[in-house]
Amino acid sequence: MDKRLNQVVVVDAVRTAFGRAGEKGLFWNTRADDLVVSLLKALIERNSRITPDMIEDNIWGVTNQVKEQGGTIGRAVSMLADWGYHVPGCSIDRMCAGGLTAIGFAAATVASGMADCLIAGGVEHMGHLPMGFMRDPHPRLEEVMGGPSAFNMGLTAENIHDRFPEFTREMADQYALKCQQKADQAIRSGKMREMIIPMEVMLTDGTRVVADRDQPPRPATTLEGLSNLKTPFKEGGRVTAGNASGLNDGACAVLLMNEEKARELGIQPKMRWVSSAVAAVEPTLMGVAPVPATQKALQKAGLTMDEMDLVELNEAFAVQALYFMDRMGMAWDDERVNRWGGAIAYGHPLAASGPRLVAFLAGLFKENPQTKYGLATMCVGRGQGYSVIWENLQGR
Ligand SMILES: CC(C)(COP(=O)(O)OP(=O)(O)OC[C@H]1O[C@@H](n2cnc3c(N)ncnc32)[C@H](O)[C@@H]1OP(=O)(O)O)[C@@H](O)C(=O)NCCC(=O)NCCS
Repeated sequence: MDKRLNQVVVVDAVRTAFGRAGEKGLFWNTRADDLVVSLLKALIERNSRITPDMIEDNIWGVTNQVKEQGGTIGRAVSMLADWGYHVPGCSIDRMCAGGLTAIGFAAATVASGMADCLIAGGVEHMGHLPMGFMRDPHPRLEEVMGGPSAFNMGLTAENIHDRFPEFTREMADQYALKCQQKADQAIRSGKMREMIIPMEVMLTDGTRVVADRDQPPRPATTLEGLSNLKTPFKEGGRVTAGNASGLNDGACAVLLMNEEKARELGIQPKMRWVSSAVAAVEPTLMGVAPVPATQKALQKAGLTMDEMDLVELNEAFAVQALYFMDRMGMAWDDERVNRWGGAIAYGHPLAASGPRLVAFLAGLFKENPQTKYGLATMCVGRGQGYSVIWENLQGR
C-alpha cells in the first residue's frame, strides 16, 4: 500500500462578523449552530465545483460543548444546512486552539489519504456560553496547574507581566493602540469583505440588521484612553480591557482539500499546509506557549523565523504577543505580524480565532504575492500553544 503523504491545501476560508458577547452583541438572538450553518452554505455557494456530497468530514472546534454548542455540533450543522444525512461531522476541544486543531486534524486526514475534501472550523458564542460555564474541574486540578491563576486567563497574562517585567503596561498599551489602528485601516480599505459572510440577525431591541462588520474594533482608541483603563484582573496590575482581547461571538470555516484533487477539479488553492506543532507549558503562564510551539513547527518544516514572511499571532493579551515577538527575535512592531490587526481589535471568540488567523493569512497571501511562508500561532488556556506554517499558492 502506498503511504506517500498527500499535499493539503486551503481552498477557501470564510467567517461571520465577530460580535460583542452579551445583550448588546450582534448575535445575542442568534444561535451558535446557526452561525456555522450560514458559513457552510456560503462555502458551497462560493465554490461552485464543490458539492455537499464531496465533504468527507466536518470538524469543528468548540470550547464549551453544552447547550446549543453541545451534542456534536459538527454533525448537526450539515443537516441544518439541508445537506441531508451523508456528511459526517465531529466536535473537538482544545479551548482557544480548538479551531486550529480542527484544521490540523483535517490536514492530517487529507495528508494520510483518509479524505480528499473536508471542512474544519471553530465557533464560540461566549455570550450564551461564557468561559467556564458548567465546568466541574477535578478538586486537584488547581493545585496541579500551579494555583488559582491558571483558571483565569487575565491573571495568566498578569503573571507574564510579573515574571518578565521588561514587558510594561506602556508597551502593552502601545501595542494595543497599533493593533486598533491596523484593524481600522484594514476594515476601511475593505480587507474583511471577502471573508465575512453577511447574516441577517435580530438585535435585542427587535430590529433586524445585516451583520457584515465586526462589532468589537474601537477605532477611536487613544494611548491616553488606554492608559486610564482599570486593571480588572488584579489591583495595580497591567492587563486592561484595552490591551486584552474581549468576550465575543463568532464562527470561521475553512475548506481543505487534497491538492491533486483540487487541481483536477480546476480549483486554484490559496495556500498549502507545511507543518503544525503543539506544545505545552506551565498553565499559569499559558501565554508564552506559542514560542515552543512555533519553534517545533519551524523545526519540522526545516525553516527559520526569518523565512516567515507573514505572521498571524492571536493576541489573547498584548503582553503575550510582546513576549512572543521578543523571544522569536522580532521587534514589537515587526511589519510581518498581524498586518490587518489582531484579536485585541477584532475580538477572540475562542475556538473561532484559529481559523480566523488562517482566513487572514489567505487574504494576506493574495495581497502580497511576493510572500512565501506564513505562520499562524496562538496560546491556549491550561498552558498550550499551537502553530501552523503555510505556503502561499497565490504567489507570482
Ligand atoms: C478584560 C475584560 C474583563 C473586559 O471586559 P468588560 O469590562 O466587559 O469590557 P468592556 O468592553 O466593557 O470594556 C471595559 C471598559 O473599558 C473601555 N475600553 C475597552 N477598550 C477600550 C479602548 N480600546 N479604549 C478606550 N476604552 C476602552 C470600555 O469602553 C469600557 O468602559 P466603561 O466601563 O466606561 O463602559 C474582558 O474583555 C476579558 O475577560 N477579556 C479576556 C478574555 C479571555 O480571557 N479570553 C481568553 C484568552 S486565552
